[in-house]
Amino acid sequence: MQNGIREILSPFSIIPVAVLHTQEQADLACTNLLEKGIGVIEITLRTASALDLIRYVSTRYGSNLIVGAGTVCSSERAEAAAKAGASFLVSPGQTEQLVNTMRNTGLPFLPGAISPTEIQQSMERDLEVLKFFPAHVFGGVSALSAYASVFQGIDFIPTGGINEQSMADYLALPNVLAVGGSWMLK
Ligand code: 3PG
Repeated sequence: MQNGIREILSPFSIIPVAVLHTQEQADLACTNLLEKGIGVIEITLRTASALDLIRYVSTRYGSNLIVGAGTVCSSERAEAAAKAGASFLVSPGQTEQLVNTMRNTGLPFLPGAISPTEIQQSMERDLEVLKFFPAHVFGGVSALSAYASVFQGIDFIPTGGINEQSMADYLALPNVLAVGGSWMLK
C-alpha cells in the first residue's frame, strides 16, 4: 500500500541522500553516482532550489537515475515534489494527513517511524517499508535487530550517521532493505 516503494528501491542497497544548492552540485553528484554504478538519488527538500533541482535532475539524468524527493515534511511539499517530477517521496516521519497525501500522489513513498508506537501506527496505515531516521541516535543496528522478531513483515531503510564502515552491519539485518546516507557524496 505504498505504491510500489519496495519494487522501485529493491535494486539498490544504498540510497544516496543529497543536499543540493546549485545545478553544478547536482551535475557533480549525479556524475559521481553514475560512475559508481548507483542508479538512484534522493534530493532533500532542505534548500531553496531543491524542487527546481529535482526537475532539472529528473529531466537531465532521469533515464539513468531514479530521482526521489527527501525531507518531505508536509502535504504541500509532497504535492510540489510530485509536480517537480520526483519518482518517489521520503519523509523523516509521518502523520495521517501526510501519508494520505503521499498515497494520493500515486508515487511510491517511504515515511519514517522510530518507536514501537510509531511502527504500530504505520501498520494500521498499511505501511510496511519505513525509514528509520536518525538511525545512529535511536539505537541503530541494535534497535533494528530487536524490531526484527517483533514487527514481522516490516522492513526498514535506516539513514542518519551511516557510513561505508557501518553499512554492512545494517545490511546484514533481515529487516533492512537498504541504507540511506550522504557519505558517498562528500
Ligand atoms: C537523511 O535525510 O536521510 C539524512 O540526512 C542522511 O543522513 P546522513 O547525512 O547522516 O548520512
